[in-house]
Amino acid sequence: MKDTDSTLAQFDQAGAERLEKIYLTPDVVQQREQIFQLLDVKPGMRALDIGCGPGLTSLSLAQAVGNQGHLDAIDIAPPMLQLAARRCADAQHVVFHQADVLQLPFEQAAFEVALATQVYEYVADIDGALRELWRVMLPGAQVLLVDTDWESCVWASRDDARMRRIMQGWSQHIPHPQLPRYLLQRLHRAGFADAQVHTVPLINTRYDLQTFSGGMMGFIASFVGGLPEYGPQLVTDWQADVTSMGEASGYFFSLNRYVFVARKPLA
Ligand SMILES: C[S@@+](CC[C@H](N)C(=O)[O-])C[C@H]1O[C@@H](n2cnc3c(N)ncnc32)[C@H](O)[C@@H]1O
Repeated sequence: MKDTDSTLAQFDQAGAERLEKIYLTPDVVQQREQIFQLLDVKPGMRALDIGCGPGLTSLSLAQAVGNQGHLDAIDIAPPMLQLAARRCADAQHVVFHQADVLQLPFEQAAFEVALATQVYEYVADIDGALRELWRVMLPGAQVLLVDTDWESCVWASRDDARMRRIMQGWSQHIPHPQLPRYLLQRLHRAGFADAQVHTVPLINTRYDLQTFSGGMMGFIASFVGGLPEYGPQLVTDWQADVTSMGEASGYFFSLNRYVFVARKPLA
């Protein structure tokens, strides 16, 4: 299976709507705002949202560049593009495109700022994707990439061996579940400079569907439960254990998002 086939299967209509709900929980909203503050975006700029998903980042970028600016947003999954287009329906200066990060439908040096949150970890050919990003950015332009290292996930459980097994299964949902630890090197290799790394943790101390981990549990359960070597019973037992930690006031979840900010050099 190609990595794009797997992405399209995960983000069908139901998957896209499920992710949108999780990304609207207060902890993820707060995380998105923190990340956005690291972006050097100004009114009038030409901006690019790569792998825009349900358009939450597109809306923020559209507001930041304003009517005098322009935003192009791309995603490979049509259900995501529909959600994003609906969310930004009032913004005339935003155009959505169905496209792969490996073949961006733009001229070279077209953008002054670009954002890709939780996207490159889905793309097997990281160097190809960064070459393509480099091509479409203007000299001096800023890029901001966010990815997760799933080994930074700390999730309290009464059965650590089972938790490790579940997370090993979940790591198969993307080609690069530990991308942040080598992304800096790849950015430099692609020619980007002045790269800085920040961490933005997500922490949940109670079990609640209106949190990132509460919502992700269902996503993880359906992916891991569908793997041939796992099966539904293991996943059901895992979910029952972790949710009951909440009832016993022992719930704890923490995960790092890694934010990379870099520039295409002027010369
Ligand atoms: C986890 S979602 C993040 C969505 C959005 N960036 C956000 O943070 O709200 C990952 C997104 O990347 C998109 N994606 C994954 N691989 C892609 C590719 N090769 N080309 C374009 N988009 C891709 C998916 O369709 C999905 O919408």
